[in-house]
Amino acid sequence: MCKFVPNDFTMLGLKLLTDPRWANIAESNLEEILTDHAWCEQKAATNAISLITQNSEHPDLVHELTAIAIEEMQHFQLVIDIIKRRGYALGRERKDDYVNQLMKFMKKDGSRNTAFIDRLLFAAMIEARSCERFRVLSQNINDKELARFYYDLMVSEANHYTTFLNFARRYTIDVDVERRWKEWLEFEGKLIQSYGKTEHIHG
Ligand SMILES: [Fe+2]
Ligand SMILES: [Fe+2]
Repeated sequence: MCKFVPNDFTMLGLKLLTDPRWANIAESNLEEILTDHAWCEQKAATNAISLITQNSEHPDLVHELTAIAIEEMQHFQLVIDIIKRRGYALGRERKDDYVNQLMKFMKKDGSRNTAFIDRLLFAAMIEARSCERFRVLSQNINDKELARFYYDLMVSEANHYTTFLNFARRYTIDVDVERRWKEWLEFEGKLIQSYGKTEHIHG
């Protein structure tokens, strides 16, 4: 497995870094952030599975995204274990307004390849921001166990980011991936300005 540890976050291409004070908001309601986080992991697994289902003609994608889907559910398990150990309850699935906004930016018209590549870039975008948010948590929360936990997850999500972006580069037929990725980063850089105020992973 690729060992990509992002210490320079310009490597992820993100236009705007999260204000570290967001970590204090998150830490003020751990039950809520852990519930939201658990469902983020479940949605990441579901997304990987649906990419496999819709693009099964690519054996390497099927293989690597199977590993990612399993890893995301292992992350889900780790989060629900923490919730249980701490005597919290896993709440209902939380809406992810940030992801819904990204979804609207995704190209669903055009060729099958265009939609496929944009779906991969959508996934890479969420991994990049999740990775950055986990870094902010790992560096700024007082809870030592969770700080270590979020450091480990940051490394894992950075690898997922690389995987999705590299698949977009490998499988493109009619999309200029570097150009479209720049559009994603620009869009996300503006979108994220409205967030960073609630105890949600992308909130
Ligand atoms: Fe994950
Ligand atoms: Fe991930």
